Amino acid sequence: MFVHVLADDAAKLSDLCGILDRRVRIAAERLDVDANLSQAPHAVVVCADLRVVRNIAALKKRSVRMAKVPKRIFLVEEPSHVCISQAYALGATLVVPSTINQSKLLAALADPADPERASPPGAPQQDNAVEVAAAAIGSMFTAASLGEPIDVIGTKEAGKKIADRITERGLTEWLTTVRRHHEGTYQHCLLVTGVAIDFGLSLGLRRTDLERLHSAAMFHDIGKATIPLAILDKPGRLDAEERALIESHPVAGYDFLKAQTGISAEILDAVRHHHEYLDGSGYPDALCAESIPDIVRVLTISDIFAALIEHRHYKPTMPRAEAYGILSRMQGKLERALVAAFKEVALSR
Ligand SMILES: [Fe+2]
Ligand SMILES: [Fe+2]
Repeated sequence: MFVHVLADDAAKLSDLCGILDRRVRIAAERLDVDANLSQAPHAVVVCADLRVVRNIAALKKRSVRMAKVPKRIFLVEEPSHVCISQAYALGATLVVPSTINQSKLLAALADPADPERASPPGAPQQDNAVEVAAAAIGSMFTAASLGEPIDVIGTKEAGKKIADRITERGLTEWLTTVRRHHEGTYQHCLLVTGVAIDFGLSLGLRRTDLERLHSAAMFHDIGKATIPLAILDKPGRLDAEERALIESHPVAGYDFLKAQTGISAEILDAVRHHHEYLDGSGYPDALCAESIPDIVRVLTISDIFAALIEHRHYKPTMPRAEAYGILSRMQGKLERALVAAFKEVALSR
């Protein structure tokens, strides 16, 4: 395997080369020194501070050539929403913390690349739903964390691309691809959207309802944009203060989206209420069954299932059957008929 290693200073470059040395063939380069490689690499590994404008400009300059490399792993030093979404905007196919250990980095490099990711010269344009959707979610989180307007139309279009992709290739392929390439909140939003779409398709929803559902899924956790990743991605138990902060995200998302144009009342309602349960034990408004519309019930089931089957670096991925078992034991909280209908989506689609 031939790996192109890029870093914004010599010390990082030599650390990275030390980690990869003797396991793979390396061409190491500082971002500000641009040499022509004699051979196309299998992967590029980038370690740079993405808060620095000079580094972003240097990576943009390389973006056309980098897009031809099947695997583009970005190591981020500062795990903030802005740095992670910047990495995706610069074309990352996987974003990991710069503290990643040798065996995990080697495993990520050895994992077969998604065949859609790099087109050989002259090949027809391929379906790039994962990258489009990841970039849309990335830029939505960046805008929300900076308090700027989001690209509502672009986000909805990305949702449509996911729907087309799942209609064509099924849910399993989507789950596998997303879990291989994305981490944390971004992975979660892509998984929820995919699961909700497949659930909607299996229920035979009308086109307009399906579009409403996948838009709600794309936007549903935008309120997490201002919550520090150290809390969102905390592996252990949360204390009361941290839990309260996390539980503020449906209202924060609702308030943020309400100020944007082009988001319907049904979508706003779904964002605000995706953590409500039929028995009134959910949040933020402790709604009861009759006040929870169908689209929200479908989104809630998709959200819980997606959260259970997420791939996290600190724990093994839960099998889909086990996750469905947990859902089906949440008696009184979720609509029984919908959970029964979800079985096929969870286990076999
Ligand atoms: Fe949520
Ligand atoms: Fe969620």
